Amino acid sequence: MYEEIPMATLAFIGLGNMGYPMAGHLANSGHEVRVYNRSQTKKDQWIKEFRGQGFGDVATTVSNCDAVILCVGRDDDVRDLLIGSHNAMAAMRPGALIIDHTTTSATLAEDMASAAQNFNLRFADVPVSGGQQGAINGQLSLMVGCHTDDYPEIKQLTSPYTRMIERLGDIGCGQKTKMVNQICVAGLIQALAEGLHFAEQAGLDRSKVMEVISQGAAGSWQMSNRHQTMIDGEYQHGFAIDWMRKDLDICLEEANRNGANLAITRLVNQYYGELQTLGAGRQDTSALLLRLQQQKA
Ligand SMILES: NC(=O)c1ccc[n+]([C@@H]2O[C@H](COP(=O)([O-])OP(=O)(O)OC[C@H]3O[C@@H](n4cnc5c(N)ncnc54)[C@H](OP(=O)(O)O)[C@@H]3O)[C@@H](O)[C@H]2O)c1
Repeated sequence: MYEEIPMATLAFIGLGNMGYPMAGHLANSGHEVRVYNRSQTKKDQWIKEFRGQGFGDVATTVSNCDAVILCVGRDDDVRDLLIGSHNAMAAMRPGALIIDHTTTSATLAEDMASAAQNFNLRFADVPVSGGQQGAINGQLSLMVGCHTDDYPEIKQLTSPYTRMIERLGDIGCGQKTKMVNQICVAGLIQALAEGLHFAEQAGLDRSKVMEVISQGAAGSWQMSNRHQTMIDGEYQHGFAIDWMRKDLDICLEEANRNGANLAITRLVNQYYGELQTLGAGRQDTSALLLRLQQQKA
């Protein structure tokens, strides 16, 4: 199932919805994998399921590794792990590579890359797309910002969970590409929510409507994969609104810097804020339909 690749000693930090299966693919492909997670239970569970070692602190986990891979929450988490209270960079072997799969700002990536240089380490921002299902199936899309020389190694190490990978430019370009992804997704989900809301108001059979139009110009991943759960009012899965708000705030901050006009993204971010106020922060991003239905009621 996995390609023949040279084996490495890898540390994986952050065994959440995404990191848990990604670290699992690395172990299954034959790498020596050392894992760390803030809460112990996920780490214990991972060690039961996969071949690898778990450690109680970050410094021990990362020492003597060829590469350290992270998939945690937000900017502050990466900062704290790499140069803050856990100070992973200080414990890493000189020359080692850091691959950050966390969705963060491009500024964080630039800061981490220059801190890495001070420790004689290498850093790459490699955010992912494809959701938890993509991570479980090893079918993620990876957006890479790195120095040219590091790209072949990144491509090889991440191959067990990658369907598509591309280097978009130097440090920060991976995160900027992920921003484009989130800008496109936000607009798509709101359009899908409005389409379903309109169909309901018009008394149409929404499943049939989606079956037909998903085959034409309106078709999208969101439409194919989310319309039925939206119709069923099921939102306890997928990509949490809290994460999407983090991502859209990052997009809006970057747009303030580069002058892009993100009118719709700004509006959708506000709608997600309303859903958070209603206590739906951990629900899937497709819950934008819920907002329209509640406003009507
Ligand atoms: N879920 C998706 O569909 C998806 C898709 C693409 C990209 N992403 C991005 O990928 C990243 C991870 O997402 P996820 O869904 O896997 O999140 P998640 O399920 O909340 O997992 C995050 C993991 O990171 C750990 N962590 C967070 N902050 C930490 C810190 N300061 N120190 C140590 N460990 C820390 C958490 O530990 P605990 O177990 O202790 O909480 C948890 O295991 C996020 O940046 C997200 O935006 C997610």
